Amino acid sequence: MPTSLPTSLRELADRHGLLVGAAYNPRAMDDDPLYGRVLAREFNCLVAENHMKFKYLQPRRGEFDFAAADRMLDFSDRHGMAVRGHTLVWHNSIPDWLRQANVSRREALDILRDHIFTVLDHFRGRVFAWDVVNEALGDTGDGFYRDTSWWHQTVGPEYIDHAFRWAHEADPEIQLFYNDYDVEWVELKCDRTRRLVESMQERGVPIHGVGFQYHTRAADAPSPEDVARRVGRFNELGLAVHFTELDIKIPSSPSANDLRQQAAAGRTAIEVALAADNCPAVVFWGFTDKYSWIPNFTKGAYDHALVFDREYRPKPVLNAMMEALQKR
Ligand code: G3I
Repeated sequence: MPTSLPTSLRELADRHGLLVGAAYNPRAMDDDPLYGRVLAREFNCLVAENHMKFKYLQPRRGEFDFAAADRMLDFSDRHGMAVRGHTLVWHNSIPDWLRQANVSRREALDILRDHIFTVLDHFRGRVFAWDVVNEALGDTGDGFYRDTSWWHQTVGPEYIDHAFRWAHEADPEIQLFYNDYDVEWVELKCDRTRRLVESMQERGVPIHGVGFQYHTRAADAPSPEDVARRVGRFNELGLAVHFTELDIKIPSSPSANDLRQQAAAGRTAIEVALAADNCPAVVFWGFTDKYSWIPNFTKGAYDHALVFDREYRPKPVLNAMMEALQKR
């Protein structure tokens, strides 16, 4: 019996029960007919790049705006895609009204609790996992926590435990993740993340997984051994790992070697996820270079970080990932 050739990343991932996701951009969906077609064809999972963050969902105190998120959920329903929620608490998504309100610690906690209950109630049954807290830890050389965060300064580090407990109370069905960058790459960040989540477990705080954001430069992407070992450090605590924001940047004028390194880095992510005890999701921070935060963020130095080019043509990195899925 001839077997039919796989047509998409999604089809191959489905065979392994692997979620392959992409961050979703509502403006691209509105303006660009190819965007939705390729997204639904190639991916089985979505995350909102911005519009499920605090300042987008609650732009004014007590007033919630779910319109953009609901449109994304309609799209995911139509195309049978899972949805990750991103993110309930992040120092970089404090609405102006909150920053300017000069609230007390007690009031800040009440606002946080209300936000979490309202948001999780709204998305009940439609979002399977949430990045409850994003980027709460310090980087190399800083303190253990990101102590410049408004949440940290107003509440203290206990905001983290509170957020997870309330999220679990609001919807016990949801998988709750702590999400951060460099966990896959920097030993100190991985150590701190492990200390944080282990201490949460010791305190009885509900947590189900850790998100490795996995924004990497192709030239110094982590080795398969290092990523696998770091995933293992969380799996051995009984926690899942998701790769939540994968992109692999290369110089804006790339050489053939840059493209090869990018393909190798993409292959690593898939191979590690497939071989791990519990790493069931690989989510990219976008999917076409046409819409990516990288050129802007790196002031033009880096680009081409995703698996389709600006014309939606597949790149070598996509082929490498599909090969990795076919081999196993
Ligand atoms: O929508 C407005 C537009 O109306 C306005 O004209 C324009 C002018 O600057 O800004 C637009 O909003 C921007 C928004 O992205 C949508 O494009 C914001 O300024 C900009 O700050 C925002 O950046 C996002 C950033 O998070 C901050 O929320 C990036 O798109 C998004 O990729 C990035 O994602 C983060 C993850 O959430 C957490 N991990 C790191 C990752 C990359 O920074």
